[in-house]
Amino acid sequence: MKIIKTAEKWKKLKAGGLLKRGSIGFVPTMGALHEGHLSLVRRSIKENAATVVSIFVNPAQFNDKGDLKRYPRPLKDDIKMLRAEKTDLLFLPDPGRMYADGYAYRVAGQDISKELCGVYRPGHFDGVLTVVMKLLNIIGADRAYFGEKDYQQYILIKGMAEAFFMDTEIIPCPILREADGLAMSSRNRLLKPEERKRAPLFHALLERRLPPGRIKKELSAAGFRPEYVEERWGRRFGAVKLGKVRLIDNVRVVGSRW
Ligand code: PAF
Repeated sequence: MKIIKTAEKWKKLKAGGLLKRGSIGFVPTMGALHEGHLSLVRRSIKENAATVVSIFVNPAQFNDKGDLKRYPRPLKDDIKMLRAEKTDLLFLPDPGRMYADGYAYRVAGQDISKELCGVYRPGHFDGVLTVVMKLLNIIGADRAYFGEKDYQQYILIKGMAEAFFMDTEIIPCPILREADGLAMSSRNRLLKPEERKRAPLFHALLERRLPPGRIKKELSAAGFRPEYVEERWGRRFGAVKLGKVRLIDNVRVVGSRW
């Protein structure tokens, strides 16, 4: 696995035919990789001649500086995992180069950016869309893979790619869960043991045949601090805080669930 740190180096390698074997698949991540990320990498490897993964903890998408500071960065382990999957290339840019403009230019999402998580994380989706636009422009992949745990993010990225006639196909991939139902997330490793034990109740309650308002009440009674439980796009979405950790999840809703 080649590790590349700048857009210039990547573009040179690409132009020099490094990955001329066929299509390029791309998996953008913020690191702290888990089986959910690896399922995207495996799918990309299956569907493309070469796979590029990026690890970049994007400061522009953190509205809470404490959250940015706490975000796990186990880079050595991540590299080991990507090597084991036979990833072709890891793109590891640094914030100074990614934001050489000081974030003067950014993608500003409207409407969907401002609902659900957008209400509780002002500016978050502008940060996500901006960095994804930069990464997609740099890598120039045929396909890019995104997990459905961040379904609102997926909808926004797909909308942006279409609105700006971008060449990369945006592909959603199903949520992977731990055996107890908790959606896999890099933030799960920040949960204290007692919180980790309680966390699967979040998913279990989202699946209950109850109105969203009732589920919110049940979440509070179970010790979570719920932000929202709402339905859109045939799914029920939720966000909660458990201790210092923010968890999001969503489940499909078929017809009326209560
Ligand atoms: O889903 C994530 O890990 C991030 O939001 C992404 C898409 C890599 C952009 O920083």
